[in-house]
Amino acid sequence: MSLIIALDGPAAAGKGTLARRLAGHYRLAYLDTGALYRAVGVAVMRQGIDPAQESAAVAAAESLSPSLLNDPEIRTEAGGQAASKVAAIPAVRAALLDWQRRFAAQPPAATDGQAMAGAILDGRDIGTVVCPDAPIKLFITASMEARAQRRFKELQEKGAGAIYARVLQDMQERDARDQERAVAPLTAAPDALVIDTSAMTADEVFDQAITYIDRIL
Ligand code: C5P
Repeated sequence: MSLIIALDGPAAAGKGTLARRLAGHYRLAYLDTGALYRAVGVAVMRQGIDPAQESAAVAAAESLSPSLLNDPEIRTEAGGQAASKVAAIPAVRAALLDWQRRFAAQPPAATDGQAMAGAILDGRDIGTVVCPDAPIKLFITASMEARAQRRFKELQEKGAGAIYARVLQDMQERDARDQERAVAPLTAAPDALVIDTSAMTADEVFDQAITYIDRIL
């Protein structure tokens, strides 16, 4: 029996950092499902087409190239916005659902060839749609201001000349699209542990998560 951890929450709440640490701690394969939506969004943008255009987005999702998952362009703010547009299209979500479920059912081996103990997937609908039977569900959130400040700091550290008001606005737009879409909107599963990271360090979030997980295992 392999362990599945479902980790959901809005942008810049600290999901990725926590997921990587939990994957290392419990020896789990890690899938950042946001990267799939980002890759689809960027593939459509590169054709000069609006990512909200359904037929182009569905075609890109159905022929998604794994090499795009490592492309730096998917990490840009434009990539995030494009991701949330393609993510609102039900047929795009359907095309990516099988991919995510296959990963959870048969996690790839580690680079040293060792079998993994299971998988951790992070995203917006892992606990509600992709892996509703996961024994462990975490919902990582934080106030809009805390998340925008973190993203702003990250961009500044990368040397990207960011404007705080713009970062905040982008995040508000993306949250609204993710929460209001008709299919698989961002919401905590009723059986998820909700952690508000607004005033927590990454270490405190990790400690709270492993205390909870170890009680269930
Ligand atoms: O997590 P990340 O910010 O990289 O996700 C980018 C976008 O992809 C999100 O804003 C959301 O619209 C979409 N997404 C989704 N479902 C997931 C993961 C990401 O709709 N499971």
